[in-house]
Amino acid sequence: MPRIVTAIALFCAAMLVASTLPAEEPKKETPKKAEKQPDEKSVRKDIAKLMKQTHRGEKSPHVRIEAELKKETPDWDQVAKEAKAFDEMGKAFKNLGIYYPYTSPKNYITHAAALSKAAGDKDKKSATEAFTALNKSCVSCHSYGGPGGILKPVK
Ligand code: HEC
Repeated sequence: MPRIVTAIALFCAAMLVASTLPAEEPKKETPKKAEKQPDEKSVRKDIAKLMKQTHRGEKSPHVRIEAELKKETPDWDQVAKEAKAFDEMGKAFKNLGIYYPYTSPKNYITHAAALSKAAGDKDKKSATEAFTALNKSCVSCHSYGGPGGILKPVK
């Protein structure tokens, strides 16, 4: 008698394992579609928002860094912190090229990185050069009324 009980118990345990295992399988079948592409409108909207946040208004990293670099001894921790926003901005461009392949963020990204490095080195000359070059990079996208358009004057 106890042997039968053991047999039944074992059988049940086996069934339990068997029933849980294959259930996981079919999930693999769903094809791993290429990452869904964001639509053009949301790409522009996200970039416009970040653009404003980064470059416009006296609290923006752009304006604050400009002010720091004019000082005899800039607050380098502040500059380094704020400069991260340009790197973030640079990353946000990655989707823009899907729709506007002629708007190259290359210069922007390069000079943003140089600015971050110079701030880390507390190197005023390099930081000022990088910041000036960063400002010149805007025209890669903002001239000719392309996406980003002509930059509106800062209030
Ligand atoms: C790689 C392309 C690219 C670069 C480089 C770039 N921008 Fe932009 N910018 C855009 C796009 C795209 C928008 C969103 C435009 C829209 O509304 O569709 C935008 C929007 C803006 C806006 C918001 C405009 C508004 O009033 O809505 C500001 C301000 C701005 N950019 C400033 C700058 C400044 C300053 C620089 C240089 C330091 C710069 N941008 C460099 C692509 C770029």
